[in-house]
Amino acid sequence: MCHACTSHINGKAFSPCSVPVSKIAPDDEITTIEGLPATVGKGLHPMQEAWLDLDVAQCGYCRPGQITAAVANVRQATADGREIEDRDLDEIRNICRCGTYTRIREVIKEGAKNM
Ligand code: FES
Repeated sequence: MCHACTSHINGKAFSPCSVPVSKIAPDDEITTIEGLPATVGKGLHPMQEAWLDLDVAQCGYCRPGQITAAVANVRQATADGREIEDRDLDEIRNICRCGTYTRIREVIKEGAKNM
């Protein structure tokens, strides 16, 4: 329910904790937060850099899932030919027990500028 483990399967966000391994096909591409920088050929993904620059996290527990969800969300908006909007951010269901939702919404818009 918390989506802290959010990763990408074939570029789309999913929660690995709720998907049995038997549902993963051999040719499915799984990207975790650790693999995210490699998708842009850098040491950090632009969304990770934005998260650090704006000092978003408090405890940081939710951060990996928030970032991977944000990247998938921005990619979808871009694929639709538009910038990220509040309605996109409303779709993100990742829980932050520290309640940093306002900062999370701001950083996703910032990070999207460099994606
Ligand atoms: S920063 Fe603590 S759970 Fe989100």
